[in-house]
Amino acid sequence: MYSSLPIEDIKNRLDIIRVVGEYIKLEKAGTNFRSVCPFHAEKSPSFFVSPSRQIWRCFGGCGEGGDVFKFVMRIEGIEFGDALGLLAQKAGVELPRRDANFLQTQTERQQSYEIVELAAQFFQKQLAESRTGQEAAAYLKKRGAADETIKKWRIGYAPDRSSALAQFLRQKGYTNEHVSKAGLAIVAPSGVYDRFQSRIMFPIFDIHSQPVGFGGRIFGEKAKEANAAKYLNTPNTLIYDKGKILYGLDKAKVAIRQQKYCLLVEGYMDCIMAWQAGSENVAATSGTALTSFQLQMLKRYCDVLHTAFDMDAAGGNATRRGVDLALAEGFEVKVIPMPDKDPADTVLEGVEEWKKCLNRACSFVEFAFQTSFQKFDRQNAEGKKRIASILLPLIKRLPNKIEQSHWIGLLAKELRIPEKGVYEELERIEAGSGVSSRKNPAADDKGKKVQKTREEMLQERVLSLALLHPSSLQYIAQEHISYFSIFYQEFLEGMKRVPDFHPGKAEEVFSPEKAQYLEELELQAQATCQAQEESLPGDMDREFLMCLRELKRLTLNKQRDAIARELKAAEQEADDQKVHKLLVELQHVSRQLI
Ligand code: UTP
Ligand code: MN
Repeated sequence: MYSSLPIEDIKNRLDIIRVVGEYIKLEKAGTNFRSVCPFHAEKSPSFFVSPSRQIWRCFGGCGEGGDVFKFVMRIEGIEFGDALGLLAQKAGVELPRRDANFLQTQTERQQSYEIVELAAQFFQKQLAESRTGQEAAAYLKKRGAADETIKKWRIGYAPDRSSALAQFLRQKGYTNEHVSKAGLAIVAPSGVYDRFQSRIMFPIFDIHSQPVGFGGRIFGEKAKEANAAKYLNTPNTLIYDKGKILYGLDKAKVAIRQQKYCLLVEGYMDCIMAWQAGSENVAATSGTALTSFQLQMLKRYCDVLHTAFDMDAAGGNATRRGVDLALAEGFEVKVIPMPDKDPADTVLEGVEEWKKCLNRACSFVEFAFQTSFQKFDRQNAEGKKRIASILLPLIKRLPNKIEQSHWIGLLAKELRIPEKGVYEELERIEAGSGVSSRKNPAADDKGKKVQKTREEMLQERVLSLALLHPSSLQYIAQEHISYFSIFYQEFLEGMKRVPDFHPGKAEEVFSPEKAQYLEELELQAQATCQAQEESLPGDMDREFLMCLRELKRLTLNKQRDAIARELKAAEQEADDQKVHKLLVELQHVSRQLI
């Protein structure tokens, strides 16, 4: 269906290093680039991108790989069609008008982006220039926001008129229908209404800092109406999905990676003010519980969360559920207790005050200890039971036994009951209080990684070395070929057949699938041969020959065992002729083994 699309053209115009580099931090590793894999949790970098081959692959737990399209599809969580549109735009390639439906969706998405961007500009101008806008700006300043901050976060103001934005966008050539699809207007029989009126507008950015929606805080006239919601959000549109975006992540992602943790807050103002106070690794949940999608997105950047939520460790509220989910996704969660003030108000008191607050971060268990002991009476049986029922599931989930026994000891002491009883209760309960603890994603793989035998590893190694140093192919004589399985034989024979073979010629010799396999193997070889890059070419040759010798030995060993088995059978059958023949064969094989 996509065969006549300009896929190659797009690939040729884009550099995979640049595209991937927009999402994750790449570091140079020889001729390639590497990073920790954004698709599974890992500590050491096994994700490689090859500029010469324009492909990527993870050699760690997940084993994923592919071209630039596959990367964008995976990291954005989008379909091929959307990745195509995104990359075509990046590459400046126009897509042919083929599939009307697909194209229409693309156009609508594009229009929504344009509309939201124009709206953000419109709101910014209103904040700077209109009378109530300036009042809103003064309010923001009173809350501590600096001019630069207001500019950086593109905060704006939606005027108190029923269709100011729709009118503005009409002048720009967009229909009410378009504006409504972008989530900014409501089309009613009586006319068109701006969704946001009399509100301070916080544009919500996607990971590339393009505005895709808004959060609007009530201000001015409408604030006086009793039932107006304090915050209003863009509804889900073609380009905005509340559960898939974390406010501020576009600005925080680099700092999160550097500082190895993300500071999570609840509100727009909290996020902006924390950022202004120097906590650049901050993102906001916008008042709802964290979704798995958001958490998995965050997992690409860090494994640790510090939450500055208003939270009740005992309660089953939405925030607590989000934290449970984060724990289940394998995050280490630290809690910054925020008893009276939210982060924005704390920053307003002074950066020092905020820093002090950040330093109070404690583990989630510790936080739960503090709050549950405050909330329930540790003196009576009922209180003891309640406290234990909150804390034990959390303790049970701790992966470290020493840490577990520390908290059990403390719990027993505080409740004045014997440790043995606590242990017994711990045995009885389910970990995670209903949250199924997810397996480590690295081990969660669809069984793609089958354990290779030593022979397979040696065969693959020979092929890898041949790709890195095609001149070593000369050492492979015809007799060696028989030591390889058919799969590798085909590659070696093909490579030997071509004069001056080098990996660039793979496509001339092999089918596209096989050529791709070689490309990936070469990339893997480059990745694992880093250390050898500085070594002498002779070392590579030596390794090559050693692998061949070892393969020969393994093959002959196998042959010898097989002959020995046959010999035993022949002896039992008293087949003298066969015994003689096998003995000669056995001698022949054994001699080669010396
Ligand atoms: P808060 O009520 O704590 O607001 O809601 P806030 O961020 O502290 O706002 P200020 O400080 O009064 O200006 C926290 C977050 O919950 C979401 C918003 O994302 C808000 O930032 N929220 C809140 C809504 O979506 N709708 C609401 O009606 C209220
Ligand atoms: Mn607040």
